[in-house]
Amino acid sequence: MKTIFSGVQPSGNLHIGNYIGALSQWVKLQEESEAIFCIVDLHAITVPQEPKALREKILEIAALYLAVGIDPAKAHIFIQSENSDHVKLAWVLNTITPFGQLERMTQFKEKGEKHGENVGLFDYPVLMAADILLYQTDEVPVGEDQKQHLELARDLAQKFNSRFGQVFKLPNPLISPSGTARIMSLSDPTKKMSKSDNDPLGTINLLDSEEQIREKIKKAVTDSATHISKDHGSEAISNLLTIYAAFKNQSLESSLSELEGKSYSEFKNLLADLVVSKLSSIQQKYNEIRADENSLMLVLNDGRDFAIEKSQETMKKVLDAVGLGRPIPNH
Ligand code: TYM
Repeated sequence: MKTIFSGVQPSGNLHIGNYIGALSQWVKLQEESEAIFCIVDLHAITVPQEPKALREKILEIAALYLAVGIDPAKAHIFIQSENSDHVKLAWVLNTITPFGQLERMTQFKEKGEKHGENVGLFDYPVLMAADILLYQTDEVPVGEDQKQHLELARDLAQKFNSRFGQVFKLPNPLISPSGTARIMSLSDPTKKMSKSDNDPLGTINLLDSEEQIREKIKKAVTDSATHISKDHGSEAISNLLTIYAAFKNQSLESSLSELEGKSYSEFKNLLADLVVSKLSSIQQKYNEIRADENSLMLVLNDGRDFAIEKSQETMKKVLDAVGLGRPIPNH
């Protein structure tokens, strides 16, 4: 069985871009793989976080994993900082990571400009490589913005293996097809939908109210045409169509044949109905999960125990290969 690993930062509100590009794929993949999903809180503090709000966000994200359909009977959910192997392996990988490769990371440049640089932000992709490599991951389902980070993870695995002997599996990115891997802002379709967007109209959050969802879709940028046509040329309309098709669980082509000829306002009403109906069912589950914190804690305990046990196997090999600590008995 393949191992898949992925994670979300508890650094803002989960939005429909995260859902379409990542979480909805996870739900499918858990059926056929050993699935490990992490709440990457150590990554989140590479930009300033308010401590109380961060703790709350971690549980919110965990509950949302469950609410969108991650099933703890099939998948493992844990909090990154509860397994110290992530930091340990990141340190080892740091020593084989070329400075220049981290300097080229676009997310580092973007986030550094926005929030101010720090060494953690610079080192972010190495910690992410450690997350993935610790679990001998085969595939990493992510949105397009994580592609560059995954290339680094592969490079580091290859470099480590050729220098110290075969320890890591080379992970493959699993990036969802045709537009869904990069959902754009509703208010500026040239920008990616993002947790840290300052414009609230750009992003539909999974926990938005019906009123907010309807307002955001109503105000979403379109183009100078008035009706849906087969050559949906503009980025704005094709983004809305991609969201529609994803929520309908159908291909873009089927959505287009269904919607061709409808006015933009008719289309927006249909889209709003669809998003409201899907998110309200997620929210209902979310509220039930949050009302039973003990069960959520048990899920996170199990996930943590599983993660520690599994990562220890890799970590032992790493220490042995590099020559750290004392010899491992019977090894
Ligand atoms: P994060 O928290 O920014 O985003 C979580 C996931 O959502 C995807 N995503 C999108 N997909 C489509 N359209 C969008 N507009 C959009 N915005 C975000 C992201 O690609 C991601 O899959 N570095 C990661 C977290 C991480 C991680 C890992 C992921 C840390 N360690 C190991 C995989 C494996 C991040 O910041 O995701």
